[in-house]
Amino acid sequence: MSRISWIGLGNIGQVVCKNLAKYGPSQGPVTVWNRTHQKAVDLDATSDGIVAVGSIAEAVSSSDIICLCLVDDAAVQDAFDTAIRDTVVKGKLFVDLSTVHPETAAAQAEKLQTYGAEYLASPIFGGVPLAVDRLITIALAGSSDAIAKFAPFTDGVICKNTITLANQPCEQASLLKLIGNFIRFSTIEVLCEASVLSEKVGLSQETLSKFVELLIPGPAAGQLKMLDSGAYHKVENPQIPISMAVKENAHLNDLAQKNGVKLRTLDTVTHHTDRVNKNRGPNASLMAIFGNIREESGLPFEN
Ligand SMILES: NC(=O)c1ccc[n+]([C@@H]2O[C@H](COP(=O)([O-])OP(=O)(O)OC[C@H]3O[C@@H](n4cnc5c(N)ncnc54)[C@H](OP(=O)(O)O)[C@@H]3O)[C@@H](O)[C@H]2O)c1
Repeated sequence: MSRISWIGLGNIGQVVCKNLAKYGPSQGPVTVWNRTHQKAVDLDATSDGIVAVGSIAEAVSSSDIICLCLVDDAAVQDAFDTAIRDTVVKGKLFVDLSTVHPETAAAQAEKLQTYGAEYLASPIFGGVPLAVDRLITIALAGSSDAIAKFAPFTDGVICKNTITLANQPCEQASLLKLIGNFIRFSTIEVLCEASVLSEKVGLSQETLSKFVELLIPGPAAGQLKMLDSGAYHKVENPQIPISMAVKENAHLNDLAQKNGVKLRTLDTVTHHTDRVNKNRGPNASLMAIFGNIREESGLPFEN
């Protein structure tokens, strides 16, 4: 049995960490560290299965497996540099659940290998509500030995499904995460545009919803309902903040540019996410691109 630590108690990080502590087969409590220490202290107070520490070095040195779930590439790079500088990482397994550029994942894997540690890229598919119910999917890319070490903490513990990319470069998981989200964000863009056109031409939202439910059931139907509900301009803590979409679009645009691919749909999504980020701030909902598309079509931002 492995001892396990968790670095990064943000919106999704905290939820997944709680499930790990509650359902995971770890030896002893999960050791947690967060940049804002109070969040770790507060979480510690909720469960005997969680212990807060005050430094990355303590989190790393007290466990065999160290999970990270941090906001962006710079924070991830910083955390690994601190771990390598302040403690001995040899023999440790680092599992990175953050969404990062494939080049960032590859650089961390290479750096850790130099110091005798292993790296698994493990991005998360699905938002906070799915994470609460352990219904998220994760991808795992890295050596099969490292995947076997982390497998007891995956299906039924923190997630429903794992897409295993055994003995494949860690970049593969990051690429899948980014391309998967390109599909998700583009679907939302199309639903927003279809909804605006329907309103302008006098086709009721109810009729459009019926079509989507019958012919393209699944997440799209739920997303259309969310647009109708006006949650995109009412909710203060959105499930997908626009800042997250801006980060991922930047990574996707970089990938497209470096590989000579023209992604016109991504251009459109990026235009709208950048506008929302500029006009409504980084904590606005990704769904607020609906309001932006409405404004571009002569409708008020709010529906
Ligand atoms: N939320 C989702 O629905 C979702 C879904 C799939 C994947 N993801 C990915 O999962 C990761 C975490 O998402 P989240 O929703 O938990 O993000 P979040 O709520 O924004 O939290 C970000 C976390 O990163 C920490 N952090 C930020 N800058 C840091 C730095 N310079 N050094 C150390 N720690 C730093 C924050 O610490 P403080 O508490 O001190 O600010 C916090 O723990 C992201 O990469 C995101 O893209 C999120």
